Amino acid sequence: MPSGRSEPSAHQADSEPAIELSALDAAAAWRRIADSLVAAAVSSRHAFHLLSVATVDADGAAESRTVVLRGFDEATREVRFHTDLRSGKAAAIRRDARVGLHWYAPEARLQIRIPATASLHHADDIALHAWRASQPMSRACYTAAHAPGAPLASFPVAPSAPAAGDDTGLANFCVVRCRFESVELLALHATGHERVRIDVTSNPVTWTILAP
Ligand SMILES: Cc1cc2nc3c(=O)[nH]c(=O)nc-3n(C[C@H](O)[C@H](O)[C@H](O)COP(=O)(O)O)c2cc1C
Repeated sequence: MPSGRSEPSAHQADSEPAIELSALDAAAAWRRIADSLVAAAVSSRHAFHLLSVATVDADGAAESRTVVLRGFDEATREVRFHTDLRSGKAAAIRRDARVGLHWYAPEARLQIRIPATASLHHADDIALHAWRASQPMSRACYTAAHAPGAPLASFPVAPSAPAAGDDTGLANFCVVRCRFESVELLALHATGHERVRIDVTSNPVTWTILAP
């Protein structure tokens, strides 16, 4: 969940400039997107700081929701976000690890879609490291008595920020790592929309130009 506090911003400008794919090659386009997503993970003002994550529920239906981008690693080809272990999305991922990640930056008129395979990290080194690095207000969400989605008789009071060193929420805290092999971009232009699928498993990366 967003903490409501402003987080440290990246050196890169927060607005996402438009991208002209036809003026780039696959490697240059991938460089641009990877740099943007790294910056977006550390700046709450970045156009790509929030993303939609789609999962497959028990009936095979698609479900999507907004999450905060917490990490992007080009080398391991992964996107990370945090969630509550008790949430519906965590249960969905345990059943079916396939997820769809989606961003759209209206200023740049750029859509990013990443099909990925998710894994949950709870009570391991990855979870502990992320927990230690998170803001007290972000940790507060994980101290809620009721699981996300549980029916309630009335609206709950916001949980207060835990004191430094209070690890009450850690039992519910979970890092989701989403591993991917390709990234799809759609750049909208009056002169002609540009869509590509970048295969990031090869070095240098390659792309396929697709009908928009
Ligand atoms: C701006 C925004 C940011 C959010 N960030 C997160 C997040 O980082 N992690 C998370 O689990 N839920 C986040 N949420 C809440 C989810 O969208 C969702 O409502 C909640 O996690 C329950 O989803 P589920 O029942 O599908 O698991 C965010 C919601 C909004 C509106």
